[in-house]
Amino acid sequence: MKTVLEDMRDGVRMDGIRRAGDILLSGGLVAFPTETVYGLGANALNPEASAKIYRAKGRPSDNPLIVHIADWEAIERITVEIPPEAKLLSDAFWPGPLTMILRKSAAVPYATTGGLDTVAVRMPDNEIARALILAGGGYVAAPSANTSGRPSPTTAQHVMEDMDGVIDMVLDGGPVSIGLESTIVDLTEGTPVILRPGYISQDMLRQVLGTAEMDRGLTSEDPSVHPKAPGMKYRHYAPRAPLFIVEGSREHVVTKINALAAAQKEAGGLAGVIAADETRDCYANAAVKSIGSRDQELTIAQHLYEILREFDEMDVSVIYSESFETPQMGAAIMNRLMKAAGHQVITV
Ligand code: TXA
Ligand code: MG
Repeated sequence: MKTVLEDMRDGVRMDGIRRAGDILLSGGLVAFPTETVYGLGANALNPEASAKIYRAKGRPSDNPLIVHIADWEAIERITVEIPPEAKLLSDAFWPGPLTMILRKSAAVPYATTGGLDTVAVRMPDNEIARALILAGGGYVAAPSANTSGRPSPTTAQHVMEDMDGVIDMVLDGGPVSIGLESTIVDLTEGTPVILRPGYISQDMLRQVLGTAEMDRGLTSEDPSVHPKAPGMKYRHYAPRAPLFIVEGSREHVVTKINALAAAQKEAGGLAGVIAADETRDCYANAAVKSIGSRDQELTIAQHLYEILREFDEMDVSVIYSESFETPQMGAAIMNRLMKAAGHQVITV
């Protein structure tokens, strides 16, 4: 299959949007930018179209998709019960990087929800995404547009690396602004529970709802406590080389990573190091990449997946990363980094 790349880096082009919408309406796949990461879109109400997403990504079929909408009223057709919290969160954060789990209506096929009776709904804040959703029938199922297990794409080039020849079209809107997937909050169980941390933090949710818990399965050491979002149990975002997070005081971390990098070189390998602007010059014997300044957490979030992809191309034998506990997005950044590392942490 030839994958058409539509350039919309200078803004929405309606001719391209119409072609993309037609592809969705006839059951095809179109990747598109959102403010978080690029999504791989299909008509969410068409089970065959959703099934194509799973095949294109190599995604396990029990891992449900997020349904993207462009206006609040669209929520009524795909849910059976709209709790007051949903409206409060929509008023505060939609369009934006927040996904809500609600009870699904019969209009949403099980092929889209991975067999669940709940549906994930999000209204993205990106003009290309909004135009595409409207042109494609109003309901676009879209996981991140990466091959399952690879870092989520933050540019159209990343999408092409994974999906060229596999999907019908890619809409290029340039680099995304946030770089990590949306916050997911479950509203089906009484107390709102965060199933995946993101740009919208626990504090921000609490300010609107009064209460919001973090899913215990995200942080529990107990292997019998599973994350509630099926996708969070997989080792997502995995770079090809093993990744270790090194935690401790700045001085100890630098000393430890330098010692590990030197040992790696001795053994004939090459270590990659994920550092911050503040420490990038402290390392030797390694391929060092800065993720950005510790004062600018959005820059750190924006660069994480790109750096993991760059290390994949460089053929490093191991990657050591500093840890990035920033105020608003720290939980999201460390959640993704921990998953990429398969929870391998070296404490110094
Ligand atoms: O920012 C985002 O959310 C991006 C962009 C494209 O919108 N999309 C995204 O989709 O990250 P995906 O498929 O990569 O991640 C969806 C996550 C998975 O962990 C999945 O298990 C969870 O949402 N999920 C979807 N529906 C669910 C449901 N009904 N109950 C619990 N978790 C659900
Ligand atoms: Mg994903």
